[in-house]
Amino acid sequence: MKKPLFKDKQEPMIPDQWYAILESNEIKPGRPMGVTRMAEKMVAWRDSAGTLTLMADKCPHRGVALSIGEVKSDCIQCPFHGFEYDRSGDCTLVPANGKTASPPKALHVQTYPTREAHGLVYIWWGQPRESYPPLPFFESLDEKFVYSTIRDHWQTHYSRAIENQLDVAHLPFVHRTTIGAGNKTIVNGPLVKVKNHYPLDNLLELWVYNEVDTGQTPLKAAQIPEPERRPFLQFRYPNVWHNWISADIRVFVAFAPIDHENTLMYLRYYHTTKTPVLRQITGFFGGLANRVIERQDKRVVMTQQPKRADLDIGETLVQSDGPIITYRKIRRALIEARPVPALQETEILS
Ligand code: FES
Ligand SMILES: [Fe+2]
Repeated sequence: MKKPLFKDKQEPMIPDQWYAILESNEIKPGRPMGVTRMAEKMVAWRDSAGTLTLMADKCPHRGVALSIGEVKSDCIQCPFHGFEYDRSGDCTLVPANGKTASPPKALHVQTYPTREAHGLVYIWWGQPRESYPPLPFFESLDEKFVYSTIRDHWQTHYSRAIENQLDVAHLPFVHRTTIGAGNKTIVNGPLVKVKNHYPLDNLLELWVYNEVDTGQTPLKAAQIPEPERRPFLQFRYPNVWHNWISADIRVFVAFAPIDHENTLMYLRYYHTTKTPVLRQITGFFGGLANRVIERQDKRVVMTQQPKRADLDIGETLVQSDGPIITYRKIRRALIEARPVPALQETEILS
């Protein structure tokens, strides 16, 4: 019998998607690593060729965590009675039965389809399939960039962390001393565009036109002329975000779902500075600035109730929340396996 996709119906993930959940360099050869992602305990380990395996962190013999075991002959060995499991999760050895005995078929560990790209580990959260779609990322973050990463644990659901990165009205308040200086409290629009190729590759693009309040009425998105510049923010479902600061400076976030109330933020500062010393200096100060900004967000977002965002959670949203409403509608449609609604700008903003 297939394991249900979700243990808890209250905690829906969008199924059948690639989620970025770790950075590749976190998993060292020969050192199994126990992590909780997608509300499941998992072990990540590499074989002698460096190939990554993600599997349930529970030995099917008597329940010990495989993450405290060892990698041996390209298998993971449970530390309790030495049973070994290969990359497919099948048991290859029960030492107490002797090495010539065939292990019982029931000794099988659930494994998860995995890919690595862009320095990230992706997990396929859904039913296995013959061929898989491309990994969600941003094509403009190419080889000319280098990056440094901040990892930070937020005690909230990943939907809240994502929404915070689509929320442009908070800048003059939460980031008064940093990127929100200047008291630009009026939010024109925001202009949001949706590019979706249901059920995969759903992209939100966002342009920001905040201004100082001089008594004017904020423009509605429909009144904003077609932008000439690239979007300030992009979000690709289910969990990656990109901030285009300039051609040479970007910020990227992967929101790795830990469980119902916890998210691991992988926040990267990308830049193209050429000389090695300047690279280090730029990376250091860019990373530092991002950490200050990230902590300003975290302090506020961790207090939001309920921890999981959704439609119909009793909030009263206003025009500047347009991108958040759009995010919620598309997320809900994907969870319910409905085609993503064709969102009219008027509908987004009403
Ligand atoms: S509990 Fe893992 S081998 Fe016995
Ligand atoms: Fe923020």
